[in-house]
Amino acid sequence: MRSLIAKYGCGRVYNKHGNIWMPTPSETEKNSVLSIDTRNMLQEHVGEQGIGAQDIERISGRLAHAHRTLIAKSENGLDAEFACLNLAREMPQVLHEIEAVAAELRKFRDIILIGIGGSSLGTKAIRHALQHGNEEPAGPRLYFVENIDPYHMHHLLSQLDPGHTALLCISKSGGTIETVVQYLILRDWLKKKLGAEKAHRQQWLVTDPKSGWLRHLARQDNITSLPIPPQVGGRYSVLTAVGLLPLAAIGVDVGLLLRGAAHTAARCQNENLDTNPALEMAALYYLLDVVRHKRISVMMPYVNRLRLFVDWYCQLWAESLGKWSTARPDVPAAGTLPVRAMGAVDQHSQLQMYLESRHDKMFTFIELTQWEHDLPIPLEASEREFFPYLQGKSLTDVIHAEFLATRGVITDTGHPNMTLLLPALNAYTMGQLIELYQRVTIYTGLLYGINPLDQPSVEKGKKLAIEYLWK
Ligand code: PA5
Repeated sequence: MRSLIAKYGCGRVYNKHGNIWMPTPSETEKNSVLSIDTRNMLQEHVGEQGIGAQDIERISGRLAHAHRTLIAKSENGLDAEFACLNLAREMPQVLHEIEAVAAELRKFRDIILIGIGGSSLGTKAIRHALQHGNEEPAGPRLYFVENIDPYHMHHLLSQLDPGHTALLCISKSGGTIETVVQYLILRDWLKKKLGAEKAHRQQWLVTDPKSGWLRHLARQDNITSLPIPPQVGGRYSVLTAVGLLPLAAIGVDVGLLLRGAAHTAARCQNENLDTNPALEMAALYYLLDVVRHKRISVMMPYVNRLRLFVDWYCQLWAESLGKWSTARPDVPAAGTLPVRAMGAVDQHSQLQMYLESRHDKMFTFIELTQWEHDLPIPLEASEREFFPYLQGKSLTDVIHAEFLATRGVITDTGHPNMTLLLPALNAYTMGQLIELYQRVTIYTGLLYGINPLDQPSVEKGKKLAIEYLWK
């Protein structure tokens, strides 16, 4: 026990849970465990469009193989091929280094994070989930420079004071064109306003430890930089310094985020579908595509603060699974199209199509079961006859009824669907969700027989953009 505490460096008691060591959960952690309800994915609940026991039985060998492959490719910590699945265990050991850099960033009023795709979507998702709204954040304000938009850049520069602004440039490859050009503009802005020496002290980099232009720059100009483990690719990197540094800088409890991820990892250690939610979800998502021809996977949270989590998930799912499989001639085109929706807004937009158009969709609902704030509906006496059912109700009653109604009609129409139930929205539940979908995505990729870590066609597009710039 002593050596484990020393190893993890956080002085907590660790318990054996599954095959990995877990800290003793706090009260917040005990009350923040995500539940997953997959019943409506099954024939007995949703009818013939659902998955039957015989469908799962037919791929039992492949499921066991996918699980064994995931375990084998996760061995060896950060050197493993699936190093992204070891981050919850490995990153606590270096968290003090990340926290030290975050403390430097916290001295600024504003931080501009320059990065795109996997270098920004996860941070955006967690920030939006945990620091949403108009309240002034306790730490610095975090701005994202992601897409190239000259109007946005102009507006941002006109708003910020260079003397109080830190630049945080994040890129795994260290050479993504959108990130590079916007960093060059922002660096120049700082230099012109503050002089080279002061501008230099207001820049930080997160990139590959060895290769790429940003790494070269960090060495040449001696800019403080943090490494991204070489085996961890962009969209799987939010639990590295890519997400942990900016999130720690704005005051997110990144230790709790990692513990949430560790909790999911511990829940997914064996090959039994009943006790490994990631494997079960992967099996169902996969089977609904290849056996029931559901080509579209809609994710619909009933929580505004999860809007950007869905963006993160869409990138992870699409870029990891949208592939041509040479290993599986029976299912050559892998992947289902991830689609964003939001409850209750899309009941007034997309739902008509979900209910009457083709039966080519599956749904994942996310519901928050305990809200931090609730507001009673203040009905005046004369209004009771118009809305008798609102008597004594609050906003949480209404959003819950809306969710139940949408899920009910989706189920009655025969569309397979599952629900993730969050008892709270905090760093612990966000960590669980992130780890869960990283595992589900990798398992699903293994079932399709594709490599869920690469993105060969994205690379083609990056190269072609550079060819156009030569013209
Ligand atoms: O998942 C991926 O690899 C990509 O989406 C990248 O995150 C994205 O292209 C940005 O790349 P980089 O972090 O190298 O700038």
